[in-house]
Amino acid sequence: MPNRVSEEVIEEVRKSNDIADVVGEYVQLKKQGRNYFGLCPFHGEKSPSFSVTQEKQIFHCFGCGKGGNVLTFIMEIEDFSFYEALKFLADRSGIELPENTIQNQNTISTENQNVLTAYEWVTKLYHHLLRYTKDGQEGYQYFKERGINDETIGAFQLGFAPNAKNFTSEFLEKKGYHQQILVKAGLISLNEDNNISDRFRGRVTIPIRNHLGKTIGFGARTITGQEPKYLNSPESELFQKGKILYNFDLAKKHIRRQNEVVLFEGYMDVISAFQAGVKNSVATMGTSLTEFQAKLLRRYVDTVIICYDADNAGVEATYKAAELLRTTGCQVKIANLRENMDPDSFIREYGDEPFKEEVIKSSKTFMSFYMQYTKKDYNLRNEGDRIHYIEDILKQLAMIESPVEREYYLKELSNEYSISMDTLTQELQDHRQKMGIHKDKREKNRYTNRVSNLQSSARLLPAFQNAERQLLAHMLQNISIADKVQEELGASFNVDTHKVVATHLYAFYEEGHEADVSRFIEALSDSALKQLVTELAMMPVSEDISDREINDYIRVIHAEQSSMKDIHSLKEQQKLAEQQNDPIKAAQIAMQIIELQKQLKNIN
Ligand code: GTP
Ligand code: MN
Repeated sequence: MPNRVSEEVIEEVRKSNDIADVVGEYVQLKKQGRNYFGLCPFHGEKSPSFSVTQEKQIFHCFGCGKGGNVLTFIMEIEDFSFYEALKFLADRSGIELPENTIQNQNTISTENQNVLTAYEWVTKLYHHLLRYTKDGQEGYQYFKERGINDETIGAFQLGFAPNAKNFTSEFLEKKGYHQQILVKAGLISLNEDNNISDRFRGRVTIPIRNHLGKTIGFGARTITGQEPKYLNSPESELFQKGKILYNFDLAKKHIRRQNEVVLFEGYMDVISAFQAGVKNSVATMGTSLTEFQAKLLRRYVDTVIICYDADNAGVEATYKAAELLRTTGCQVKIANLRENMDPDSFIREYGDEPFKEEVIKSSKTFMSFYMQYTKKDYNLRNEGDRIHYIEDILKQLAMIESPVEREYYLKELSNEYSISMDTLTQELQDHRQKMGIHKDKREKNRYTNRVSNLQSSARLLPAFQNAERQLLAHMLQNISIADKVQEELGASFNVDTHKVVATHLYAFYEEGHEADVSRFIEALSDSALKQLVTELAMMPVSEDISDREINDYIRVIHAEQSSMKDIHSLKEQQKLAEQQNDPIKAAQIAMQIIELQKQLKNIN
């Protein structure tokens, strides 16, 4: 059995991690009245139905129903066990958990744990060699020549793997690692004769860290022009290229602060950009951007600036990534690199400030990139081609939400190809209609729509259910209301789950707790219950409710019960009458039942 962590410790961890801050590290939140709203990280959506209440320290998604407190959130989003989430949040706020509480509570397999610690050792080892030893000097020199300074070398833990066959394997075996683990980790390779050798030899090493800052692989670059240029760790459970963005862990807080991320193709681009002061920089891992990565970025930002090489391949990749990001709901901008430049060489040639000002801050809109990009497919001297080109641009323009932006490009087209604005506007409208886009205004009010939808759906519930929900919502906030309801209603709610919530809540208060929804959720073990409670707690209820209103709710609930009881017993009598072959009596009873059901409907 695991050692249970005391309730006080859990409480302390929870209190020292404000839910809006923690969630804000994953989801871009906007304040609306008392709550924060954002795009739900647990299901794909384009308009926000995910909400966080700081006051109550809970979150809830009106779309997918997920909800809970800060611990639940971390468990869900990081796929952590309770103990891992607790440890994660404790670390985050600098709280020491008592020894022996966390051991063996990880969901990561022991094998993968070993892979992680092996990488941790080797990261330090290679970095140390590069930085402080003769053996690593050529690596150090290499980075210096590329303009990378000591601080950056430290921040990225850049290293050098010496050109020796068994240097790394011997180092790790001395530390007690089994060969098998190291082969699995991709740190050493096994040849046909079952001989082992270090995978990375005579190369500079760039640790690839996961979003928690743990090294899960290396990108190892040749410094002598060998092939391949980069030798990477092999794919594994821990290291999946399509799911990782290089440098995401360091960039995260900058990304969120700026509501913008700069996306590169290469590790070295990120490292140079970071050194130049563009800290919201990440890169894919030498493969095209995946949907997973696009969605990850969307959770954090509105705008992605794509800064790929400005050669043919780079421009094609830019277009692909842009389209994917746009379907995910991101605004896309394209960095303003001169033809055939790459970000890293731009920085080396022109310096940090010009990179920031002329390349990143002067990013083009997607549309102006697209107008340029598509030209290559048409011979614009040919009239037919020109018309197709303009059609093509208009189709893209039709999808742009901002009327100002649409107009801007229409003018550009109008000037460049001498077509009247009227004609272009008309064409554009036709496209928009065909695409079914005519909801500019509604989009703007999506937050408010969300909330009123919610309230109207609540109104559709039968009255007794509404009454039960209202009462529970009040009881979650107010002990004396809970006391009153306990006395007058006990656990006699009609909806079973409401019964369970009430029972737990009475017990919670009897244990001497204050009204504290987040803590109450902690005490519940069932995740469906947690979600229900979160939902109830999110209901907008007024703080000053009169005794009369409470009594009204209780009365509605009672009425439902007694009518249900009556109907139940009438049904029994009806059965009896049928068994006794008394059809007239049975029919009379049936009439009574219908009458009661009608009445029920009316009060409801
Ligand atoms: P430098 O040439 O050192 O400036 O590196 P870079 O990071 O700018 O690389 P480049 O633009 O050539 O390639 C972009 C990314 O593709 C790299 O960061 C790697 O992730 C990946 N890549 C490039 N070459 C190779 C290779 O030979 N093998 C593998 N597996 N990946 C590569
Ligand atoms: Mn490069």
